[in-house]
Amino acid sequence: MRKKTVFIASLAVLSLIQTSLAFADNVNGKNLYLQRCAMCHGADIKGTGPLATKSNPPTPDLTTTAFKKRLSDYPGVIVSSIILRPNGDLIPRTLRENGVKVAPYAWQVKDFRDLNQYMSSVISRNR
Ligand code: HEC
Repeated sequence: MRKKTVFIASLAVLSLIQTSLAFADNVNGKNLYLQRCAMCHGADIKGTGPLATKSNPPTPDLTTTAFKKRLSDYPGVIVSSIILRPNGDLIPRTLRENGVKVAPYAWQVKDFRDLNQYMSSVISRNR
């Protein structure tokens, strides 16, 4: 009986540790998003940032059904939009033209995962 209690107690501790790890990851993802993406995409990811309308095309709402489908068909779309920059120099140019400086950043694999997880969770919470 005692052993079982200890076992259950250690499971509870483990799950607490896991929850705080997931939380820590999300803080990193959220910070990266707020510092490097929100000026266009908006804190709500709906394309409401101050620079959202300063580019052609403007910043899209990424919480639409259409984008949710895109994300579920192609889960790499967020990460690839950072790495491949499919829109060429549109983003750096828009930042430059509006005098917004974003410091260069040495992305780690973990950062991509955290940012992807953060954005995906905000997007999926939006219905
Ligand atoms: C200067 C404004 C700006 C910044 C900063 C910016 N974006 Fe965007 N983003 C855009 C615009 C504009 C588009 C639409 C581009 C297009 O259609 O070619 C876009 C499109 C996207 C898309 C949709 C891609 C697709 O294929 O559907 C994703 C995902 C995305 N951005 C993620 C990010 C992430 C992550 C960051 C931060 C690391 C970021 N963006 C920073 C303006 C910005």
